[in-house]
This record gives sequence, structure tokens and C-alpha cells, in this order.
Amino acid sequence: MEFNRQKLESALEERRNNTNIFSSIYIFDTVSSTNTTAWELLKQGIKPGFAVIATTQTSGRGQWGRQWDSPKGGLYLSAALNSHLEVKHGYQLTLASAWGIAQELRNYGIFVEIKWPNDLVLDGYKLGGILTETKVKKALITQAVIGVGINWENSTPETGINLKTWQTNQNNLSLNNSSFVSLEELAAKIIQGIESGIHCLEQEGVDILLSRYVRLLANIGEKVYVNNNPGTIVGVNPSGSLHIRMESSNSESVTTPYIDLHPGTISLGYRKTS
Ligand code: BTN
Repeated sequence: MEFNRQKLESALEERRNNTNIFSSIYIFDTVSSTNTTAWELLKQGIKPGFAVIATTQTSGRGQWGRQWDSPKGGLYLSAALNSHLEVKHGYQLTLASAWGIAQELRNYGIFVEIKWPNDLVLDGYKLGGILTETKVKKALITQAVIGVGINWENSTPETGINLKTWQTNQNNLSLNNSSFVSLEELAAKIIQGIESGIHCLEQEGVDILLSRYVRLLANIGEKVYVNNNPGTIVGVNPSGSLHIRMESSNSESVTTPYIDLHPGTISLGYRKTS
């Protein structure tokens, strides 16, 4: 079950040319982390605009310093690109990639939603996640590595789901007849999804990107508690913070009823449907 370059290349041939960012793909059997390999290739002088894929990772990294289990059968992909974003807007790369990937999968009848800020969710379970790392010079991001892990046919924790099993169940129920046949085909779509997300951010701007991201956000309308006070999630702002409307029982209060919470300051649960 090694990753097949030829299959990937033929799947990538269908790519829309105007949004291509990642022109070369480096494929490995086992690496510690595809994000680390991407940074090493950049250090060796390879120009940004490439992707790295590995069959397995021995030290896959997740958000907030967590480990990302990476057995065979999953997709482990990192994309390296140039950036000119201000550091405070670095999260836009993750939001753009999440939207682009979710939208690309939805075009295939896979109705992925986004769990703020970086999770790809299917039927309420985690299908994948994104870890963006950046190199910064004088408060500007110069290079970024966007790492994506997707559950294809690997086993997952309780809160996870893998796409191959989901597709088989859908096909058995005759709910969906367009499915991915291989990990390589999925990889091609993920690359295309990152490209279209970054293209949207760069060409159409963050406001348009956010309006599209929020449309796929599973958390809109969700009730949360901030310092024991109830509020409702109403959006995401350009720095990636969650925009929350607080319920104020005190009508004399002059404080703003809105609060913005930066990624990492609140953790939202999974909405399991069964
Ligand atoms: C998350 O915590 O949800 C983000 C997970 C990101 C995992 C991917 S797998 C490919 C790339 N390499 C890594 O070490 N991490 C990312």
C-alpha cells in the first residue's frame, strides 16, 4: 500500500490551471512529520510551491502540541508556500485551507463541515485536521507550511470517522454514487482544495473567504459559556477568532454584548449523531 505517484499525477491532471500553487510533489514512505520534511526542503533551498506526502509519520503533530497518530491508510500531506500576511492574520491560511478542502469534498457529495477553527467534520465526527506553521520576519509571515491529515482507511479514535468506510456505507444505502477510489485521488483533491482556498484569500480577500467559511461552519448558532456566562457563536473574525454574542440579563449593562475568542482559548465539542 505505497503511495502511487502515477495515480496522483493523473488525478492532478484535472486540476484547474489558473489556481495551481503547488507544482512539485515529494513523496516519502515514512517521515517523522511531513511538516518537518517540508521545512527541511525549504532550508535546502527548494522554492515554496510544493507539497510533501508520506505513507506514515512517526511523530505527526496536531494542534496545541498534540500528537497526530499516523498509521498507514491515512493521508499525511503538507504544502509549502510563500506568504506576505501579517502575523496577526496568520490564521487566515488555516481558514482558507479548511474552507477550500471542505468545499472541494462537498463538490463530490461529501458534505464536510468545519469545526472551528481547523477541523474537518463529517456527520459530526472528525474526518481530518489542519496544522499551519509559519516562518516570520519583522511581524510578517514569509513562508508557511500547511499540514493536512485526513482519515482515509485508517482506524480512528471514537470521535473520528474515515472516508472510505463512510463512502461504502453511503453507496450501500444508495445515497451517493460519486466516490473517491484511491488515496491518491483524495490527495489530489486535497491539494486542489488548499489551492482554491489560498486563491480565494489572495484574489477575493478575507471578507469573501470568511463569508464562505462561516457558511460551512458547524458551530454557528451553538451555545457556549465564557466565564460561566452564556453566549451564541455568530461568526469568525479576520484574525480567526470566534465571534460570540453574549446573553446579557442586565439591561443596564453598557459593556459590548460581543466577545472575540482567539483559537486555543475555548474548545468546542464534536456533535456526534449516533
Ligand atoms: C489537528 O490537530 O487537527 C491537526 C492535525 C494535522 C495533522 C497533519 S498530518 C500532515 C501534517 N504533518 C504533521 O505532523 N501534522 C500535519
